Amino acid sequence: MNLVNWDLEKAHTILVVEDSRFQRKTLVRQLKGWDFDILEASDGKDGLDQFERFSPKLIITDLEMPVMDGFELIRTIRQREINYTYIIVLTALADKENLVKALEVGADDFIIKPVNLEELKVRLGAAERIFKLQSQDKLIFALAQLADCRSEETGNHLRRVKLCTRLLCEDLAENGFSVLTSARISTIESMSVLHDIGKVAVPDSVLNKPGKYTKLEYRIMRKHTEVGGELLENIYKETGSEQLRVAKDIVMHHHEKWDGSGYPQQLAGEDIPLAARIVALADVFDALGSQRCYKPSFSRERCRDIIVSERGKHFDPAIVEAFLRKEDELWEVLIKLQDPTSCPQ
Ligand SMILES: [Fe+2]
Ligand SMILES: [Fe+2]
Repeated sequence: MNLVNWDLEKAHTILVVEDSRFQRKTLVRQLKGWDFDILEASDGKDGLDQFERFSPKLIITDLEMPVMDGFELIRTIRQREINYTYIIVLTALADKENLVKALEVGADDFIIKPVNLEELKVRLGAAERIFKLQSQDKLIFALAQLADCRSEETGNHLRRVKLCTRLLCEDLAENGFSVLTSARISTIESMSVLHDIGKVAVPDSVLNKPGKYTKLEYRIMRKHTEVGGELLENIYKETGSEQLRVAKDIVMHHHEKWDGSGYPQQLAGEDIPLAARIVALADVFDALGSQRCYKPSFSRERCRDIIVSERGKHFDPAIVEAFLRKEDELWEVLIKLQDPTSCPQ
């Protein structure tokens, strides 16, 4: 068995929680042999203390232990964690009931005892893939925030658009949009934050101008769709990455309108990529429902009236239906992620 050439990041500390000293030491020896930094705990309470002190990203825990069992440990971590912790449980082959319970309280994966090295390697590889996706998502968010930081819109605007986009996608997936698989939804959600990335090319004098734009300024502002869209299209052509294609669709087309009166290409109806149609509604909903320096937040009724009146004009009718079905949850996002009121005087 070749364990030398596997492509696993060794930078993670792993917390091993196991009351059987023999089993813990065996596992720890193996993980150390693969160059991981290890924390050890002999029961759930000890494990929780170590988790709070060192915040390891990866935990391998037994389930039945004295003082605090693995279920309680997982439940508590899920309540307290700030960044996602990947939790693998150790379980006996015949112990299906406990395994299901562990997954229910929030475990990500499991390893059958006695631990088989090849299986352990596969499980750690799965954790690594999740970490990569998480860091990719954080990088995308940070870049989007950087591009947005000159405008009055805040990081919370991006967070709200992201969550509203997910809610709309999930609803559409349940209502006939079978192209919205869970992988596609995650991509659209994660790329939605880039919608205004092209604003990096808009000068400050235009970007933050109070009051109405002149025709020329409006033209400059509108350019953000093409500037960002073309940048992403070029990288998409080089890489063929599906995620970048979705990002390009969103960035290029989030100001198109269902009736063809939007920009930059005056696309209409289903010619507008679905991801862009969804983000368009999430973005406008947030602009209406949140407070901005130049306007208070509109009431729920006023937002609904505006969005419904744009059904078939600005917005895809099917996405307006999704909005109406998800209205309560969408408002919860806006309220939970409100901006602190700090506008320049
Ligand atoms: Fe925009
Ligand atoms: Fe926006």
